[in-house]
Amino acid sequence: MKKARIGIIGCGQIVKIRHAHELAECAWAETAGYSDFVPERAQAFASQYGGRAYDGYQDMLRDPEVDGVVICTANNAHAPMSVEALHAGKSVLCEKPMASGLAGAEAILEAERGSSGFFMAAHNQRFTMAHRKAKALLESGAMGRVLSFRCTLAHPGPERFSVNRTNSCWYLNKASSGLGCISDLGIHKCDILMHLLGEPLARVAAIAGTRDKRDETGSLAQVYDNAVCVLETPSGVMGTLNLSYTNYSGMENTTVYYCEKGVLRCHYYPDCALEVVMDGAETVRYFDVPQPGSGVMDAFARAIVEGGPSPVPAGEALRAMRTVFAIEEAARTQKMVSLDGM
Ligand SMILES: NC(=O)c1ccc[n+]([C@@H]2O[C@H](COP(=O)([O-])OP(=O)(O)OC[C@H]3O[C@@H](n4cnc5c(N)ncnc54)[C@H](O)[C@@H]3O)[C@@H](O)[C@H]2O)c1
Repeated sequence: MKKARIGIIGCGQIVKIRHAHELAECAWAETAGYSDFVPERAQAFASQYGGRAYDGYQDMLRDPEVDGVVICTANNAHAPMSVEALHAGKSVLCEKPMASGLAGAEAILEAERGSSGFFMAAHNQRFTMAHRKAKALLESGAMGRVLSFRCTLAHPGPERFSVNRTNSCWYLNKASSGLGCISDLGIHKCDILMHLLGEPLARVAAIAGTRDKRDETGSLAQVYDNAVCVLETPSGVMGTLNLSYTNYSGMENTTVYYCEKGVLRCHYYPDCALEVVMDGAETVRYFDVPQPGSGVMDAFARAIVEGGPSPVPAGEALRAMRTVFAIEEAARTQKMVSLDGM
């Protein structure tokens, strides 16, 4: 088997905790190298994990030996870089959200149409053992219809995560981020909800604002740090979504599906990634050990080796983008927003 040669663009925190070692350990891939605005960061990863330190991302895109690139920069660079990479014939694994605005997301779909490569959004929640099992249970009919859901993604703030651990980090800057927690965190949950429910989110209402996060000048940040949303699918499944950068107790990343025949609790307990409570039957608890890897890099590299298709297609990522932008519109206008044509 010829392995996929993959390079990483943007060498910050998510590369350190996830992509560099998952690429080095991937059975379908070889590390082509790294690139970053800050050349020392690319050099440090290349020294530790192998491959070259490229002289900028365009140098990587010109390398005919590179089959795919993983884009892990600030959000506003995702779409222009993805478009350039697709035009260069590379496949793209792009961190979420796929763009900082809808126009960028649409440009990616357009570029993919004329490319020999494919686009995959790094929506890693689709690859957790709990969400895979929950999807299989829902599709099997064992739970009956989903009636409603409750969903939260909340952590203490991106300034504690980014390689730049200060309030001047790009996450708290509107031009670099987009919508703050609504797009940064909401994209994960909107995507996984639609993936598991098997239908779009068609109507949204929300309250959102900036309550606590400050930029480097000490003023309240221009991105949202909290949002509380109400969502509904075309078939009438209803639920709530809480997004927050101000959960100072740590990370909460939970979804509960209330179904006709029981309840699914995904990532609700630290020692059990999925709990299934059936009406009148014994509770079953799955996955009491941490998942070994995110599964994202394996899916990307394998799709390159096997000639596609994209494991998380651009069209589905765009659908999640439209949903988070509808949430922002609903919050800004104080009106319920319907998503047409979904
Ligand atoms: N899937 C997830 O669960 C998850 C989790 C965290 C972050 N992310 C995403 O990963 C991406 C990176 O986040 P991070 O926390 O690692 O950021 P970070 O601030 O830690 O690092 C970003 C890196 O990209 C580099 N960079 C920025 N713009 C660049 C450009 N135009 N060209 C080259 N290099 C550039 C910076 O120098 C920095 O080294 C973001 O899109 C974020 O939303 C995803």
